[in-house]
Amino acid sequence: MIIGGKAVQAQSGKTLEVRSPVDGLTFEAIPRGEAADIDLAVAAARQALSGAWGKLSALERGRLMLKMAQHILDHAEELALLEARDTGKPMTTARNDMVVLARYFEFYGSAADKIHGEVIPFLNGYQVNLLREPLGVTAHIIPWNYPAQMMGRSIGPALAMGNAVVVKPAEDACLSCLRIAELALEVGFPPGALNIVSGLGEEAGAALAKHPDINFISFTGSNEVGVLIQQAAALNAVKCVLELGGKSPHLVFSDANLELAASTVVRGIIQNTGQTCTAGSRLLVQSDFYEEFLSLVAEKFSRVRVGTPEMNLDCGPVVNLSQQQRVNKYIAQAQQDGLKILAQGQIDPNVPNGGYYVTPTLFGQVPAEHPLAHEEVFGPVLAAMPFVDEAHAIALANGTDYGLLAAVWTENGGRQQRVAKALKCGQVFVNSFGAGGGVELPFGGVKRSGHGREKGFMALEEMSTTKTVIHFHG
Ligand code: NAI
Ligand code: MG
Repeated sequence: MIIGGKAVQAQSGKTLEVRSPVDGLTFEAIPRGEAADIDLAVAAARQALSGAWGKLSALERGRLMLKMAQHILDHAEELALLEARDTGKPMTTARNDMVVLARYFEFYGSAADKIHGEVIPFLNGYQVNLLREPLGVTAHIIPWNYPAQMMGRSIGPALAMGNAVVVKPAEDACLSCLRIAELALEVGFPPGALNIVSGLGEEAGAALAKHPDINFISFTGSNEVGVLIQQAAALNAVKCVLELGGKSPHLVFSDANLELAASTVVRGIIQNTGQTCTAGSRLLVQSDFYEEFLSLVAEKFSRVRVGTPEMNLDCGPVVNLSQQQRVNKYIAQAQQDGLKILAQGQIDPNVPNGGYYVTPTLFGQVPAEHPLAHEEVFGPVLAAMPFVDEAHAIALANGTDYGLLAAVWTENGGRQQRVAKALKCGQVFVNSFGAGGGVELPFGGVKRSGHGREKGFMALEEMSTTKTVIHFHG
């Protein structure tokens, strides 16, 4: 862990075993940080704000972040290998994740000195300045699906605005995050600017969320924990940004570019083995060409291959035993309920025993009230269903508790606009789908997908505050 610029173990000396999902074997140990370690990290961050970190100009913060972006790229292969071993993702995905991580530091590093305050016209004899200021100590609870990318997404804007951060990465995959914090020290981030405490969610995570001396929480993860985070934030009256997943739909109309739509739909659910908050997990298809389109999707889906990171196929294993059981339970329950499997991918016969592999599965004619049509599986399971017209498509698309992202596939310009406006979610793709990408694009949910915006310039606003200075000069 890194606290106050030093590499440390948990004060208790306790550790947690790290298992690789590739083979289920233990290969590392991480510190099991607890409340006492969180206390030190928050204190170190607080000190950094009045110390060297707080004294840097916006330009200097930005330059450090750009240096960090290059340092990440210089260590991209090492980080990708670590991430692949820890999460099981194919090497191509892990490598791409490191490019995106570097991009967050580049984007926000370049933005650091371009966030200006405002001058507000007021009564005669007054000068009113609106200053934009850091929030203070920001807390970042990171999930295990894209550890490195998510850490970049969360702390990039916070550091650019001059906050001091405390990161609690996920116990299921945090080796890349711990290494990123070391890299930050190497490029010269002052002590306490970036602290990281590994440990369990209910120990280190809960202690961080309810710490009385933090000023903001960024959380990505499950709905259940999101509610706990919001309660903790409420008790200390601090702001939180919550990103709690989704059940993102594709709406495919019969005038769509079928080939492009079909291959994008398949990619959108198998990416990262379906463990993506924005996974395109529902496929809504106009009924008059449902059969034709689904046979195209099924043919592509049946070619999906699952293997180890080194095999570098379409999917890796899922992150742990409980996620494997969760995905398999959804598949078994759907079969028991009589839902029809239209296609399945294949697990490579040479994967090690004991790894957490699941079979990518496409279900057809899923009734809107079936759990598979509205619950987040977080695995490579796609639920298809027909719709009769535009209004029906919109009703189905908006008919879950989630609202993170959606894609509409049609060549009709008017329909593109109407549907995009009618969808209740934070991002809409038209004739395209980008699960996870685009550091420039404001991102976040409505309804149970959470609130607040990350990425783009909006994250800089989320992670800062304003002060209105009203000056009477006569
Ligand atoms: P989780 O919500 O428990 O874990 C996410 C992060 O929250 C981890 O860093 C964890 O240590 C932390 N955490 C857990 N309990 C906490 C607590 N009481 N206080 C503070 N922090 C806490 O997610 P989990 O259990 O690993 O996965 C369950 C489901 O959650 C997944 O199947 C998926 O549906 C959803 N999920 C969604 C993600 C997304 O990208 N939106 C990412 C991870 C999980
Ligand atoms: Mg959990």
